[in-house]
Amino acid sequence: MTTTIAVAGKGGTGKTTLSALIIRHLHRRGKVPILAVDADPAAHLAEALGMNVEKTVGTTQAEFHDSRLQLPPGMPKNVYLEMCLNQVIVEGKGLDLITMGRPEGPGCYCSSNAVLREFLDVLGKNYSYVVMDNQAGMEHLSRKTTQNVDVLLMLSDQSIRGIRTVGKLLDLIRELNLRVNRSYMVIDRTSGILAPPLEEAIAQTGIDLAGCIPVDENIIEFDQLSRPLMDLPDNSPAVDAVAELMEKLSV
Ligand SMILES: Nc1ncnc2c1ncn2[C@@H]1O[C@H](COP(=O)(O)OP(=O)(O)OP(=O)(O)O)[C@@H](O)[C@H]1O
Ligand SMILES: [Mg+2]
Repeated sequence: MTTTIAVAGKGGTGKTTLSALIIRHLHRRGKVPILAVDADPAAHLAEALGMNVEKTVGTTQAEFHDSRLQLPPGMPKNVYLEMCLNQVIVEGKGLDLITMGRPEGPGCYCSSNAVLREFLDVLGKNYSYVVMDNQAGMEHLSRKTTQNVDVLLMLSDQSIRGIRTVGKLLDLIRELNLRVNRSYMVIDRTSGILAPPLEEAIAQTGIDLAGCIPVDENIIEFDQLSRPLMDLPDNSPAVDAVAELMEKLSV
């Protein structure tokens, strides 16, 4: 059985950081194999994980749709695409990464999106955990996988506007017909306890608050030095908070 965890939220709320921290948590506990999916076109997850990406699903699809493409003799088009998609996967110890990259350019990608959907759905089943870092909405991903999301974590900063945005995000995700089993809010970069008006705004969204991630000086330092978050010390405050979060969610 695969557990799929998706992280979403508006720009800069800490999605990539939380995705990397969740992956770090699972990896350290031997909850492997893990597939990390970078579904944000800006693609920063590889860096946070300390992995090198050469190809993305986006560039592979674009090459496939290039009119100059020459298929190896006798190879059906969909088999060739599948072979190319396999090369997008970066393999690590107990942790693989697939980077979606930029969405497709002009032209009809329906046929390759169908192959991709099947590919991603089958791929996910090979892992104990799939952790997806998304862009603000999940539109990009929803066209490309039919996979169930077991746990959706929607991030907000410590602002009432941010919290209301999460409420709207959940509506959007519902409209996309993504199959999500459990959804929660997470507040990142907190500095102490939440003010009562924030708690009230959270209650108004009707979304359960799963936890808060404190401002972590180590993350700030690692970010400045471009060090992978996988190397954060065990006693780092955000690492602790994510462990607590995962325990609470029984992941
Ligand atoms: N708990 C934290 N403590 C300190 N810094 C943090 C914390 N969480 C995130 N940050 C910092 O905040 C910035 C934004 O985080 P991150 O890149 O994870 O957000 P994002 O939602 O993925 O952004 P984008 O929408 O651009 O993809 C980064 O510089 C990151 O290092
Ligand atoms: Mg990001």
